[in-house]
Parts: sequence; structure tokens; C-alpha cells
Amino acid sequence: MADEAVRRRCATPAFGTVLTEHMVTMTWSAERGWHDGAVRPYAPEPVDPATAGLHYGQVVFEGLKAFHQADGTVAAFRPALHAKRFRTSARRLVMPELPEALFVDAIRALVDADRRWVPTEPDRSLYLRPLLYAADVSLALRPASTYRFVVLASVTENFFGSSGAPVSVWVSTRYSRAAPGGTGSAKCAGNYAGAFAGQREAVEHGCDQVLWLDAAERRWIEEMGGMNIFWVTRGRNGAVLVTPALTDTLLPGVTRDSLLTVAHELGIATRESRVAFDDFTAAVSRGEVTEAFACGTAAVVTPIGRIRAGHGEWHVGDGGIGPVAGRLRDALIDLQRGRVPDPRGWLVHCG
Ligand code: COI
Repeated sequence: MADEAVRRRCATPAFGTVLTEHMVTMTWSAERGWHDGAVRPYAPEPVDPATAGLHYGQVVFEGLKAFHQADGTVAAFRPALHAKRFRTSARRLVMPELPEALFVDAIRALVDADRRWVPTEPDRSLYLRPLLYAADVSLALRPASTYRFVVLASVTENFFGSSGAPVSVWVSTRYSRAAPGGTGSAKCAGNYAGAFAGQREAVEHGCDQVLWLDAAERRWIEEMGGMNIFWVTRGRNGAVLVTPALTDTLLPGVTRDSLLTVAHELGIATRESRVAFDDFTAAVSRGEVTEAFACGTAAVVTPIGRIRAGHGEWHVGDGGIGPVAGRLRDALIDLQRGRVPDPRGWLVHCG
């Protein structure tokens, strides 16, 4: 594709709609293990209607980004941690675990092949979508014996657009995202399909996103529909960045982990703990919660300005990004774009 055509297609890259020219594919079978890995021109997969993954949801995925760097190169952000989570997700769904080195090699090869699609604009990046699905052509109800690994790349702006305006959240007490012992900490397709009803309920109540409470007691704050949540409290000893502690019903976000690390380096106190929604809203009402924000690979750091539930509504902040969230977001973006040293080797250069 000519450069001009690439530029035209990237004019308005709504999340996930502008896919690049190449993809990675690889197959796993019980007899041959991982084989036939290749970067190839983007094309539809030949999916038989009896493909097991379509019927029983044996499908896991990842979402990570590659960024244009200050020195003109291109690098993926924390692909090794995404590779590790991909393995954990696969294990939970009784799927073969792709070795981390193969995952990272696939990311590097695809980004290198589609290097000219990596945006240089400050609020854009290349979003990478590794996917593993059960490929048996069979309706047998059991883990498949063949799997297909695919990586796609998509030119993207921030998930919530580039305005940076705060989003609102609706607390669902009608639906649940994840139950103890279930698949909540795996990044599997079914978790997202199951969350759509809560997301629709949020929109019906005039909110942008759903905020999930735990399924057992409907009491503890967990996560949002595809991102983790943080807030900042002002206590006697200064500001504390708070996020729900990880359990088997929360997705361990890579951005969540990155922000906790960055906060530590910036000298911002952090706390990971179980927090009851009622205690949280009481603290909001007392003016002790000064900021709230969503974070994720796609969402980056997006302020939350309004929280709504069946029994009330609460406002946080003053309509923009708060000072702590702003510092964290800037520090994260500086790291991702190679503007500051990378002592932990989070950036992996591609090509
Ligand atoms: C990501 O941030 O990569 C996510 O997984 C959210 C996505 C499903 C939109």
C-alpha cells in the first residue's frame, strides 16, 4: 500500500478499526506443538462454522502497544509481561501455553513488518492484539487438540478519544463480571462478552463504563469493563494512590502494574487493598477522594468524574485529570515513548 493510502486510512482511527497490512499466524497441534509461524499479508482466517472456539469460547487474547520512540526507532511496551499473562490465561482455559520468547518474537516481527504504520502523533500508537483460539473443527465438548495463534496490529488513538475528559461509571448490582474460582483473572473472550450486559446497563443509565463489584457479596470494588480502577485519597499523612488488591476475580493489568511501579519511584504512597463500595463513596462524600481514574493498555489513564449507582451519585475532581493521575500518566507516556531512561528494560525494540 502506498504511503498516501496508509495516511488516508489512519485519518480517524477509532479504536480497533484501522488494521495494518500484516498479521502473524502460528498453529499448535498435539503432535507437532507450535509450528508454521509466519508474518503474512493480513487476510481473513478460514474459520469453519464448526470451529470449537466459536462454540465453547476457548479463546484468550492480549492487548499491548508499540510506540514511536524519541530516537526514531519503534518499541513494544512490556511484551514479556503480556506474554506471561497470555500463558496464564491459556493455562486457565486448558489451552497450550505459548513460550514467552515466541510471543515476543511474533510482536517484534509484526511491528517490524508494519513499521510505517506506527504513528508518530503523540496521542497515537500501534495496538497489538495477540489471540489464541481453539481450532478443532468439531462440536465435541472438550479442550481442543489444535489451536491457532494470530497477532493483529491496529493504529489507535486512546480508547476514550483524545479529549481527555473524565468518564462516568455505573455500578452494576444486577450483573456480575467474575465469580471466585471462575475466569476473572484470565484475559479470555467470554469475560468481555459477559460484561456487555453491564456495559449496556451503564449506557442506559447515562454512564460511559460499568464498574464491577465482587459477585459474592456485591460489596467490594473490583474493576471496570476492560480496565482497572485507581483513586487518590487525602489522609492525615498525605496523598495515597489506592487500587483494589488482585484476586482471582480481577484481571492483573499491565498498566496497573506499571503505574504502581512508577508511583513508587515518584514517591507517591500506594495501597492495594479490598475496599467496600460504601466506604469508598462515604470517603468521596467527605471530600477525601480527590481523584479517580481508569487505566489500561487501551484506556491509558482516563479520569473518572462521576460515579452512579441505584442509590446515589457522587462526583470526583473538577472536570479534568487530577494532579496525581496527571503525573503518573505523563511519567508512563515518557517511558513508553523512550523520552526517559528505561532501567527495567520494559521497552523491546522491534526490527
Ligand atoms: C486493553 O486495554 O488492551 C484491553 O484489553 C481492553 C480492550 C478489550 C479494549
